[in-house]
Amino acid sequence: MAAIVNVHGRIVDQAHAVVSVFDHGFLYGEGVYETLRTYGGEPFLFERHMRRLRTSASMLALPIPIDDAEIDDRFRATMRAGGLDGGTDKEAYIRLLVTRGVGDLSYDPAVCPEPSIVVIVKPQVDPPREAFQRGVGVAIVSTVRNHPATVNPLIKSNNLLNNALAMQEAVRRGAFEGVMRNYRGELAEGTTSNLFIVKHGAALTPPLDAGLLPGITREFVFELGADRAVPVREAVLRDDDLFGADEAFLTSTTREIVPIVQVDNRPIGTGVPGPITLALLDAFRRKAQELTRTRQAAGTRT
Ligand SMILES: Cc1ncc(COP(=O)(O)O)c(C=O)c1O
Repeated sequence: MAAIVNVHGRIVDQAHAVVSVFDHGFLYGEGVYETLRTYGGEPFLFERHMRRLRTSASMLALPIPIDDAEIDDRFRATMRAGGLDGGTDKEAYIRLLVTRGVGDLSYDPAVCPEPSIVVIVKPQVDPPREAFQRGVGVAIVSTVRNHPATVNPLIKSNNLLNNALAMQEAVRRGAFEGVMRNYRGELAEGTTSNLFIVKHGAALTPPLDAGLLPGITREFVFELGADRAVPVREAVLRDDDLFGADEAFLTSTTREIVPIVQVDNRPIGTGVPGPITLALLDAFRRKAQELTRTRQAAGTRT
């Protein structure tokens, strides 16, 4: 699907969206990113994404030379150029990348005077309706999530080989998503999503110190749980907790809340999306619309 791209503030079509091969993002995967989507043409939870971006960047000692207002302006200009600024019923997928920039072949950050900033905008593609209605199957993969003392999973970094290898395995096994364990053998997260199980009426998700990305949707689920009187807690989870769960689901910006009904071809709970998962999904969608309306009315970011 055709994308429209903003490279260093210049808007170009997909075919002309290029960065130098000497960019350390290309050479070393040295950079950070955020994926957002719009509801009603408004980038959803913009400020939370910007906070996480700056935290990720600081963990690489990577300066981000523009403020949130400038990033928002670039998003909106790019969305406008792509006809995805809210005038139609199409929503936008927005990927923001900040890399170390162009420099000589050296790991010394001093060789890169200027970070590169790229915004990719394309139409948001939702998971198929059946994924929400019937649920999906996931696979627990053998690729272990990065140890936090290597490339810390708290960093939303462009260095995604760990996730890509895990997803390759999931694809080979015909799964919708791969679930990774950490170096201690506990469940950590999906390759591009966070994991929750439901047990005895409570939604449980691995703690951040299991080594995982602090998902924006994951955080939002804690707030939705408070709205719907569903306890949401962090808990160390192992394979057996997932196999023995009453329900399970995954969360991500582009997929919201997707029920998991099979793990490694074994049914979870009753084998259909569970009532707590569906209640949280309903709460998510209502809240997304409500925050978007508030945002549109007040002209402030959600
Ligand atoms: C490794 C990983 N975990 C979790 C998530 C979900 O995060 P969010 O809810 O912020 O999209 C993502 C999103 O791409 C991810 O890459």
